[in-house]
Amino acid sequence: MTVAVYLPLEEKTHWWVEQLSALLPDHEVVPLDAVSDPGTVRYAVVWRPRTGDLARFAALKAIVSIGAGIDHVLADGALPACVPIIRTTGRDLTQRMREYVALHVLRHHRDMPRQLRAQAERDWHAIVVPVAPNRTVGVMGLGNLGAAAAETLAGLGFATRGWSRRGRDVPGVETFAGAEGLGAFLSGCEILVNLLPLTADTRGILDRSLFDKLPRGACVINCARGPHLVDDDLLAALDAGQIKQATLDVFNEEPLPAKHPFWTRSDITVTPHVASQIDPGTGARLIAKNIRTFEVTGACDDLADAERGY
Ligand code: NAP
Ligand code: GLV
Repeated sequence: MTVAVYLPLEEKTHWWVEQLSALLPDHEVVPLDAVSDPGTVRYAVVWRPRTGDLARFAALKAIVSIGAGIDHVLADGALPACVPIIRTTGRDLTQRMREYVALHVLRHHRDMPRQLRAQAERDWHAIVVPVAPNRTVGVMGLGNLGAAAAETLAGLGFATRGWSRRGRDVPGVETFAGAEGLGAFLSGCEILVNLLPLTADTRGILDRSLFDKLPRGACVINCARGPHLVDDDLLAALDAGQIKQATLDVFNEEPLPAKHPFWTRSDITVTPHVASQIDPGTGARLIAKNIRTFEVTGACDDLADAERGY
């Protein structure tokens, strides 16, 4: 039985092949491009597979996403139908996202960009901000990552809101559901964090009409997927003062092209899709465990719903 591994960077593929070979001694783990008999491949472990890569494997039992999102798998227009997709989640991924969201929410809350500008001018400028309970922050998406981020923000004392499709109770968080709850959720959100999956319903959701529903001068943090954001709408909202600052970890095109205006704006912080990269050692153990469980039971806790898109 073969496990085929593909990531866009060859050296990363080799690293994962080595790790998974040690953890799955009953399987032959090989780079996807080195598969000699496609009929023997039962699992494909992938990040951003190329169109048609997976259709070659007629006996594929499951596709494993090296990451929480499965949009990069569903983007393959020739994806074999009805093959289960297993995503990779876990405590490390959640912890990293908690840290990233706390860091950037606090940074906007305490107006650090303005404080740093004052330092550059040797200006002893005290910036007084409201205490966290008087600051409303909102998290879009209340899944593994969004619920954990919202819980962390509530723990820091923020007046925290969360929004999801079906609604979910998160301790200390005021929650809203569905398209009908979106307006009420956004109104008053001074700092907005996006942790939605990328689906047909959420693509382009961070657009002008959404920005206009936020209070003037709100900050936006996108740590989900680049195509959630309409880049030009953000630039216009920043120019108009509707949005004060943005932190962006993910982009419509990655790596972010050198000429993209986001790089040079003082009101945008760019991070290179690092909010919560899966720790490779932990990730390999989680993936091996999911494959072993799936092999025995035909299921595992991390099965995604391809129909739904997450
Ligand atoms: P998840 O557990 O699948 O949760 C998704 C959440 O989004 C659920 O609460 C879901 O609501 C909600 N949702 C989906 N479609 C919606 C819609 N149309 N309207 C309102 N709510 C909707 O996802 P996760 O593990 O938390 O991960 C979220 C995303 O973060 C991933 O898909 C990935 O794109 C991104 N991510 C980024 C990084 C990074 O480093 N930047 C790292 C990991 C993941 P229901 O449950 O009610 O359907
Ligand atoms: C990273 O972006 C992931 O989906 O885990």
